[in-house]
Amino acid sequence: MQLTNQTYQIQGVNVLAIADEFGLPLYVYDADKIIEKIGSLRSSFSGVNLKIKYAAKALTNVSILKLMRQQGVDIEVVSVNEARIARMAGFEPAQIMYTPSGNAWSEIQEALEMGFQLNADSLPLLEQIGQTYGNRYPVALRINPNIAEGGNFKIQTGHGDSKFGIPYSYREQIKAVTEQYGIPVVGLHIHTGSDFKDGNTFLKIADVLFDLATDYPDLQFIDFGSGFKVRYREDDYATDLAELGTKVSAAFRSFCDRYGRELELCFEPGKLLVSESGHLLAGVNVVKETPTRTFVQVDSGLNHLIRPMMYDAYHDIKNVSNPSGDEKTYTVVGYICETDTFATDRALPDVQAGDVLSFENAGAYGFSMASNYNARFRPAEVLVYEGKPYLIRQRETFEDLVRGQVDVAVLNSEVIDV
Ligand SMILES: Cc1ncc(COP(=O)(O)O)c(C=O)c1O
Repeated sequence: MQLTNQTYQIQGVNVLAIADEFGLPLYVYDADKIIEKIGSLRSSFSGVNLKIKYAAKALTNVSILKLMRQQGVDIEVVSVNEARIARMAGFEPAQIMYTPSGNAWSEIQEALEMGFQLNADSLPLLEQIGQTYGNRYPVALRINPNIAEGGNFKIQTGHGDSKFGIPYSYREQIKAVTEQYGIPVVGLHIHTGSDFKDGNTFLKIADVLFDLATDYPDLQFIDFGSGFKVRYREDDYATDLAELGTKVSAAFRSFCDRYGRELELCFEPGKLLVSESGHLLAGVNVVKETPTRTFVQVDSGLNHLIRPMMYDAYHDIKNVSNPSGDEKTYTVVGYICETDTFATDRALPDVQAGDVLSFENAGAYGFSMASNYNARFRPAEVLVYEGKPYLIRQRETFEDLVRGQVDVAVLNSEVIDV
């Protein structure tokens, strides 16, 4: 989103005009930003056989997945339903990596039978695969390296106390079970967490993966998961992709020499690809003074963007209606009947009821974590592509909210048609 002639624009389209056309609250994504991020990741790793698998959980709209596919990106999913959306977007089963976290055996079977690449996350799962299918399905192994990294504890997945992956200390047991059933191991994977504070963590992960690789001669890929840090504040640290590319590529090339073959180097970015592209536009319902604060209350809340409340995440806020107004201090809150504070004591250009605010960096884990709490509709979604805004998710209706609810006759209540 750029400020040009006192107007916020996305690819030259006036953001207020988008709000007018599609209504509020609204998620707006800039396709150019996504394409730019894919390009910088690729050019940083141009010396290795890089495969990008977009982590679909960050933003799962079918049009976003289509854009990823159009850009030559593969996909990583955590549920069969995410995989189905990927199939709707045109991904071939072989382009889909399925990473369960203790998912039901019936779902794992479905994923295997649909031809997705399974990334096994536990010894009991490997045992079950061996017992049921013998050597029929090649697997990748999700390893827990016992490395604590990530923006905050909730998004750290590779420490010793985490539920994720197979502990690296079980190395011998993993080998024993895969050998017992002849399960082909084609990939090794570690996802240690999101928002690494130190890019060198990827090198620590590399040590674990390269060491373990000596147990498995038939590997096709090594997957470093994600952990790319994006900039939520202007002065935030962000992963230096060029530096990371140089360091990790060098380590990977020398590993491939030792291994005797060139393997694929995979990453699974979510945030890196979609966070910056996304803007949550919300309208100001009320500006309310109290003895201690001036609250700006918007027609959105934790039901649309939960990151500030769940992870104490900072999201920049723009007053799209009044970019050059005098700055005042506001506490920006939602309309949900919970404490859903987006920002405390934030300097914003003068805010009036009816203004449109934009919550920045909202593309990742924004809509995909949205809910209907308080019986509120989730926002509509728009993608700006080649200079034109396209509706990619309709605004919900009351029928959407009550679909699936069953009015049981035994309660014998009178139903009012609304
Ligand atoms: C297995 C796996 N891969 C990739 C990602 C993407 O992480 P990020 O959005 O930080 O890039 C996640 C997110 O938690 C994940 O669980």
